[in-house]
Amino acid sequence: MQNLFPAAAFAALLQAVYAQSPCSGTFTPITAEDFVTSLHPGWNLGNTLDAIPDEGSWNNAPVEEGTLDIIKESGFKSVRLPVTWTHHFTGSSPDWTVDPTWLQRVSDVVDMITSRDLYTIVDVHHDSWEWADVTVAGANLTMIEEKFYRLWYQIGTKLGCKSSLVAFESINEPPANTAEDGAEINKLNSIFLRAIADAGSFNSQRVVNLVGGGQDSIKTSQWFEAPANITNPWAIQFHYYSPYDFIFSAWGKTIWGSDSDKDLLTTDFELIRNNFTDVPLILGEYDASSANTEPAARWKYFDHLQHVAAQFGISTIMWDNGADHLDRTIGEWRDPTTPQLVTGTTEETANSLPDCTEDAAATEQSSSAYLFHRVGTQVASQTLPYLFNGNSLVSLTDSTGTVLQSGSDYSVSGQNIIFSATYLSTKYTASTAVGVIDTLTLEFNGGAASPSIEIVQWNTPVLSSTSAVASNIAGGDYDIPITWNGLSTLAAVKALTTSGVYLFDDWTQWLGPLQQARATYNSHWNWNEENVILTAAAIDAVVAAGQTTVFTFEFYPRVNGTLNTAEFTLTV
Ligand SMILES: *[C@@H]1O[C@H](CO)[C@@H](O)[C@H](O)[C@H]1NC(C)=O
Ligand SMILES: *[C@@H]1O[C@H](CO)[C@@H](O)[C@H](O)[C@H]1NC(C)=O
Ligand SMILES: *[C@@H]1O[C@H](CO)[C@@H](O)[C@H](O)[C@H]1NC(C)=O
Ligand SMILES: *[C@@H]1O[C@H](CO)[C@@H](O)[C@H](O)[C@H]1NC(C)=O
Repeated sequence: MQNLFPAAAFAALLQAVYAQSPCSGTFTPITAEDFVTSLHPGWNLGNTLDAIPDEGSWNNAPVEEGTLDIIKESGFKSVRLPVTWTHHFTGSSPDWTVDPTWLQRVSDVVDMITSRDLYTIVDVHHDSWEWADVTVAGANLTMIEEKFYRLWYQIGTKLGCKSSLVAFESINEPPANTAEDGAEINKLNSIFLRAIADAGSFNSQRVVNLVGGGQDSIKTSQWFEAPANITNPWAIQFHYYSPYDFIFSAWGKTIWGSDSDKDLLTTDFELIRNNFTDVPLILGEYDASSANTEPAARWKYFDHLQHVAAQFGISTIMWDNGADHLDRTIGEWRDPTTPQLVTGTTEETANSLPDCTEDAAATEQSSSAYLFHRVGTQVASQTLPYLFNGNSLVSLTDSTGTVLQSGSDYSVSGQNIIFSATYLSTKYTASTAVGVIDTLTLEFNGGAASPSIEIVQWNTPVLSSTSAVASNIAGGDYDIPITWNGLSTLAAVKALTTSGVYLFDDWTQWLGPLQQARATYNSHWNWNEENVILTAAAIDAVVAAGQTTVFTFEFYPRVNGTLNTAEFTLTV
C-alpha cells in the first residue's frame, strides 16, 4: 500500500505536536531495563520531603546540595525521592489543588539530583496511610481515586519536562490485607498511568515503577497485575526489611548470618524474581541500620543481600532515614564499610569480613569487628576469627595513620588475625579509661570494603537509679540516666516478672538464651546519649500485668551472665 500521508501534512503535524509541548529540552528515551540497571546502587533521601507535615519536620534539615555530592562521590547512581503530599493540598474535592510552592520545591530537589547525573524516582509516600489507605473500614474509594488522579496529574504536569533520569513510582507501601485490596492497588497503578499520560509532556515515555500490596515481595507476587494497556516502560518496585527481628532489634536478635538466615533471604528474592521473570525489579528500600544492628552481623547481611540481588538481577536502593547511615550534618558515613559493600559488591565480589557468632543457640555473642578489653583484666593477646574469603590482608592502619607491623603487632594464622599482647598494651592496660580507644582499618587485596576493628575498653555500665513505681511513671517514656562504660549502645532488654513470667511474648522461650524474654527496640526500650529508656508501652505492660518486673539492660559485648548488664525494677 502506498503512503498516502503527504510530507507537508506530516511536518505540520509535527509542528503542532511540538507547539503543544511545554518542554524546551529533549527527552532521550530509555528502556525500563536500562533505567533499572543504571540506577544501581541507589540511596533514599529518607525522612526529608516525606516528613510530616513538611520538609524539616522530622530528624533532617531541608535537603542540601552537599549531601548529594557525598552520595555521588560515594559511588551511588541514584537517589529515590520519597515525597509526602498530604499536608500540601490547598484545595479539596474535586480539584485537590497542590500548593504550587511545594510542587516547585519538589521540582528543585529533582533538579539538584539530576544535575549530578544521578537517576531519581519520585513517589507519593506517606499519603499511602494518611488518606489513600484502601483497607480502612468505610474507606471512600471514590475519594481516594479522585484525589490520587488529581495529585498525579499535577505532579505529572509540574515534572513532565524532566529528563529520562526521572521516574515516577505510583505509591509507597500501600496497605493491603486481601486480594480485593490488592486489586484496588492495581487500579491505583492504572489511575496513576492515566493521570501522567493526561498531563502530557514527556510522561508517556517516562519510566514508571508500579507496586503491589504493601510493596512487599509476597503480596506483590500474589496480587499484582500490570494494567492491560500499559505503554510506559515499567518496572516493579518492592521493599524488604527481613528478618524483622534482626532489622528492628526485636526479641534480643542481635545475631545474623547462619546458612538458614542466608537461605531465607535468597528464597524471598528468588520467589519474587520467579513470579516476574520478564519484569525489571527494583528493591527500593532495605536496611540494617548502623544505629541498632551489630556491625559484623550487619556487614554479613549487606554482603549477602547485594550478592543475591545481583544474582537475580535486582537493582537496590538502600533506605537511610538520616539516623541510619549518612550523618548529613557532618557529611560522613556513620559506618563507612556499609556503603562500600553496597556500592562495590557485584555477583563475583569476594568480600573479606569479620566473623561473628551465627548460632542462634549461643549463650554469648562474639564479633571480630571489635577488640574488647574489660577494665581490671590483664592484657593478653587476642585472636579474631576472620572470613578472608580468598583475599589476603594487606595492611592494618590505626586512626592516626600508623601502619601496624605484621609479625610484631599482629599476625595472620589460618582464618585468624592475632594481635600481640605487646601491641595491645600500647592501647590499653587494666586501668585505662573506658570507651572507644582506637579504630583500625583493614585493607585486603580484593573485595569491595575496608572493614574496621574498634578497640574498646569496657566495664559494667551503671544506672543512676535501680527502681521506680510503675504507676507513678506511667503515661510516658521513662529515662533512666546511665553511665555508659564502653560502647554507648544497648544490645537487648530482658523483661521478667519477679515470679518468673515473661512480660512480653511468652513464645520467646523457644528461642536461644540470648533471646528468651527479650523485649523489642522502639516499642519497649530505647536509648540516647545519656539515658536508657523504658517506653510508655513497657510501663503500661507492667501495670496491666500487676507484677513487679525486672528489666535487664544488656550491652555489647554480650557475654555470659551479668558481667555486662544492668537491672532496673519496676514495682507495682
Ligand atoms: C466520597 O468521595 C466523593 C468524591 O470526593 C464524594 O463526592 C462523596 O461525597 C464521598 N462519599 C462519602 C460517603 O463521603
Ligand atoms: C487503560 O485502561 C483503563 C481501563 O479501561 C482506562 O481507565 C485508562 O484510561 C487506560 N489508561 C491509559 C493510559 O490509556
Ligand atoms: C510467587 O511468590 C509467591 C509468594 O512468595 C510464592 O508462594 C510462589 O511460589 C512464587 N511463584 C513462583 C513461580 O516462584
Ligand atoms: C556460658 O554459659 C553457658 C551456660 O550458661 C556455659 O555452658 C558456657 O560454658 C559459658 N561460656 C563461657 C565462655 O563461660
